[in-house]
Amino acid sequence: MNAAAPMPLTARCGGPLHGRVRVPGDKSISHRALVLAALTVGETRISGLLEGEDVLRTAAAIGALGASVERGADGVWLVHGVGVGGFREPASTLDFGNSGTGCRLALGAVAGSPITATFDGDASLRKRPMRRILDPLERMGARVTGAAEGGLLPIILHGAVDPIPIIYESPVSSAQLKSAVLLAGLSAPGETTVIEAEATRDHTERMLKHFGAKVASKPHGDHGRRITLHGQPELEPASVVVPADPSSAAFPIAAALIVPGSDVTLEAVMTNPLRTGLLTTLRQMGATIEALETRDDGGEEVADLRVTASQLRAVDVPPERAPSMIDEYPILAVIASFAEGATRMRGLKELRVKESDRLAATADMLRVNGVEIEIDGDDLIVNGKGRPAGGGVVATHMDHRIAMSALVMGLASENAVQIDDSSFIATSFPGFTELMRSLGADLA
Ligand code: S3P
Repeated sequence: MNAAAPMPLTARCGGPLHGRVRVPGDKSISHRALVLAALTVGETRISGLLEGEDVLRTAAAIGALGASVERGADGVWLVHGVGVGGFREPASTLDFGNSGTGCRLALGAVAGSPITATFDGDASLRKRPMRRILDPLERMGARVTGAAEGGLLPIILHGAVDPIPIIYESPVSSAQLKSAVLLAGLSAPGETTVIEAEATRDHTERMLKHFGAKVASKPHGDHGRRITLHGQPELEPASVVVPADPSSAAFPIAAALIVPGSDVTLEAVMTNPLRTGLLTTLRQMGATIEALETRDDGGEEVADLRVTASQLRAVDVPPERAPSMIDEYPILAVIASFAEGATRMRGLKELRVKESDRLAATADMLRVNGVEIEIDGDDLIVNGKGRPAGGGVVATHMDHRIAMSALVMGLASENAVQIDDSSFIATSFPGFTELMRSLGADLA
């Protein structure tokens, strides 16, 4: 996919969007289900797995590490695990493509096995910081060799022979970092603890418990958590049902809000409170989003979300909300450009190290479409004036979320919006174009 010629795509304003759709499975949970299933002894069934490029890379990686991974004719994935610490040395480089999550979770899992593996990715992933993951893993006994001492991919990781449990006060609130330490901690004797200043998505903790590990989580400070794992558990296989991804649902939700006359229902969207910062923000902006039939689906809360086109006003988004909507700022920035007034999004430093420099890419996306914006330190300010001009060609920088955000903008702006490359959308949201077209979107 990535090496192929770029695939431009254009979004135009058409009629209202209508319908009832289900977006694909959650990316975070899909990666975790594969990695943790690989660390059990026995067979795990995973239904609803996101079959996006990123997750398929993780499936290939755990296969190369010795697990058996198979997709059944019914779409259910079957993983035969090798047990904690049981990975075998892969015959070739583990290539994670565009996926930071897959790569960082696998670094953690491999750090707890006495093997050597080379990690690599595409041009976007090769720019993303890995030191933050390697620091705690080295303290746990793993070693890193290779270019730039592992600050950037490619990295050669030598897993610990006798992993050491640590107490790690994380310098950044990152679920990927937390998860890498906990995964390495599975092989260590005693307790491994991660302290985060702001609570991040807790899917790893939930799923570790689901597979039989002992994990305790308690509040830390005003917004944080202290998570402790008891090492060397025997993980038991257990079925996983992957709920629909709220970060993917964000795009049709946004489109329904800004295209006049729209009425769209998103089925069974995961509403884990550590993922719903966007919904909180949109409701403060005056969005009509009804949560219908709230229920439990495979250990996560889900709801059908009915979204109707709404008049929106600007808001101030506090920095402590960032972890619960970290992937949603590009689409919120688009929505804010359709609101009245200046929306300020605070504390967006981490956006600079996503699939692209997302702060810069979001600002450029808005600017080329006639929206007045300002970056003030780590804050983004979007001056909404009701309806942007559009008409721009957006550089997506190998970033799926910039691509989808720009297309949503074009569905409601005065003039069409074009993106330079739609191919990266398949990393997280295969079928995006078809799903949006089924609601009435003009994408061509
Ligand atoms: C993810 C965590 C977030 C998020 C990413 C998925 C995860 O990254 O941006 O898309 O599944 O743990 P950070 O942990 O680096 O903030």
